[in-house]
Amino acid sequence: MSSQDKPLPFVYQFAAGAIAGVSEILVMYPTDVVKTRQQLATESIGMVQTFQNIIRSEGPGRLYRGILAPILMEAPKRATKFAANDSWGKVYRNAFGAQKMTQGLSILTGATAGATEAFVVVPFELVKIRLQDKASGGKYAGPGDALMKIIKNEGPMALYNGLESTLWRHILWNAGYFGCIFQVRQLLPAAESKKSQIGNDIIAGSVGGTVGTIVNTPMDVVKSRIQNSPKVAGVVPKYNWAWPSVFMVLREEGFGALYRGFAPKVLRLGPGGGILLVVYTGVMDWFRQMGVGSK
Ligand SMILES: *[C@@H]1O[C@H](CO)[C@@H](O)[C@H](O)[C@H]1NC(C)=O
Repeated sequence: MSSQDKPLPFVYQFAAGAIAGVSEILVMYPTDVVKTRQQLATESIGMVQTFQNIIRSEGPGRLYRGILAPILMEAPKRATKFAANDSWGKVYRNAFGAQKMTQGLSILTGATAGATEAFVVVPFELVKIRLQDKASGGKYAGPGDALMKIIKNEGPMALYNGLESTLWRHILWNAGYFGCIFQVRQLLPAAESKKSQIGNDIIAGSVGGTVGTIVNTPMDVVKSRIQNSPKVAGVVPKYNWAWPSVFMVLREEGFGALYRGFAPKVLRLGPGGGILLVVYTGVMDWFRQMGVGSK
C-alpha cells in the first residue's frame, strides 16, 4: 500500500511533510547558500569555484550560516506543500466530480498547493536571503535579529516583499513536481516490495524536482533580487514585479542570467524532491500501519 491509496487526516499529512522537509534540508542546505551567492553576483562564477571561495575566505561554517531559518521554515513549508496537495486534490475531485486523479488534476492540484505554500514561506525566505547575501549578511546577528531589524527599519509589510514572485515560483515548481510524480508513477512498473517502492519514489520525486526546477528557475532568480532590494520610501525599486523583472534581466544580462545558480539548485531540488517523496510516502505508510486515522 502506498500513499496514493488511502487519505489520512490533515494532521498526519502535515506531520509527514514536516519530517520529510527536515530530512531533506539537513542533507541539502549548503548547495542553497552557493546558489544564492551566484544569483546575487553580477558576474558569472561557477558553482565549484563559489563553493571553494566561500570555504577559503569565510570558512566551512559559513555554508551552514542561516540554516536555523530554513530548518524552522522547512518543517511548516514542506508540511504545507504535501498537506495542501492532498487537501486540494480532494477539493478538485469533488468539484469536477472525478473519482480519481488525472494528469490535468494533478498539475492543477500541485499549482494550488504551491500558491498555498507561498504564503507560508515568504517571510522566512526574505530573512534567509538577507542572511545569505555577502553585503547585507554582516548587518544581522542571526535570523531573530534580522527579523526585528527588518520590521523596525522597513515596516512589517516588508516581510511580504516578494510575495508575488514567490507565488509564481511555487506555483510553477509544485505544478511541475506533483504533475511529474503522477505521470512517472503511471509509467513505472507497480512496486511489489518496500525496496522497489523506495526506488520508484526516488525516481518519480527526482524527476518531479528536476522539472519543477527547470520551469521555475527564472522566477527564483528575480525573487532573490526583488527580496534583496531594501524598501526606500518614494523610490520604486529596480526589481519590483516578477514578469517585468524577468524581461529586464533577459534584456540587460541575457538568457544565461535567468539560469544563474541553476546547477546547485537542480542538484539540490532534483535529489531533494526524491528524498522528500520517499520520506513522505514512508512516514505516511508507517502511520497507516500504526492504524492511525482508521475508524
Ligand atoms: C497529491 O494529492 C493527490 C490528490 O489528493 C494525491 O493523489 C497524490 O498522491 C498527492 N501526491 C503526493 C506526491 O503525495
